[in-house]
Amino acid sequence: MLVTIIYVILIGFLAAGLIGLVISSSIAWGLIITNGVPFISTPRSDWLRICEVADLKPGQVVYDLGCGKANLLTTAAKIFGVKGVGYEIALWPNIWGRYRVWRQQADVEIRAKNFLKADIEKADVVFCYLFPHVMAQLEPKFRSELKPGAKVVSYTFKMPNIEPTQIVKATQRYTWWSKKPTYTADIFVYQF
Ligand SMILES: C[S@@+](CC[C@H](N)C(=O)[O-])C[C@H]1O[C@@H](n2cnc3c(N)ncnc32)[C@H](O)[C@@H]1O
Repeated sequence: MLVTIIYVILIGFLAAGLIGLVISSSIAWGLIITNGVPFISTPRSDWLRICEVADLKPGQVVYDLGCGKANLLTTAAKIFGVKGVGYEIALWPNIWGRYRVWRQQADVEIRAKNFLKADIEKADVVFCYLFPHVMAQLEPKFRSELKPGAKVVSYTFKMPNIEPTQIVKATQRYTWWSKKPTYTADIFVYQF
């Protein structure tokens, strides 16, 4: 009996260790293939704000480059009646995003592909929440591939060489230790 209990405990530890290893190595791999851009979602308080700033119209095609859990796209599709296309190369956010789209039955397609190789010509609006070095990589792609009139709406990070058409403050953020807002992100809008 005691031996069986010890075996069960050992197998339990082994299984937990293996699961931990698989999850942590897939997260580490995700950071390698995304060139260091982590999976951090736009705060919930800004989902609607970003859609409003983008001035979305029903029937438009909206891309999110690195869509994570597809929070922005599902909000845009359900509330503003747009068609969403999300690119997400990292495994866990991709699965999470697909689950969210399925659960909400939103008009959103998620593609497991590097957005630097994506065809973005059909986009009316492109959402980004990436890092400056990736915005610099995307800048020439936007210039050459986006159709005239298309918009890029970038949360927090701007492009190095193009002046934004509009800079809007996002929702103020508070922390539990302070009554004052600690950080308010910028939303950069670029019209092509
Ligand atoms: C900071 S998160 C933003 C998630 C989501 N757009 C949001 O605002 O909540 C950036 C996401 O981009 C993904 N990503 C980074 N580089 C990528 C690439 N080259 N191709 C596809 N996805 C990428 C990351 O895996 C990560 O989930």
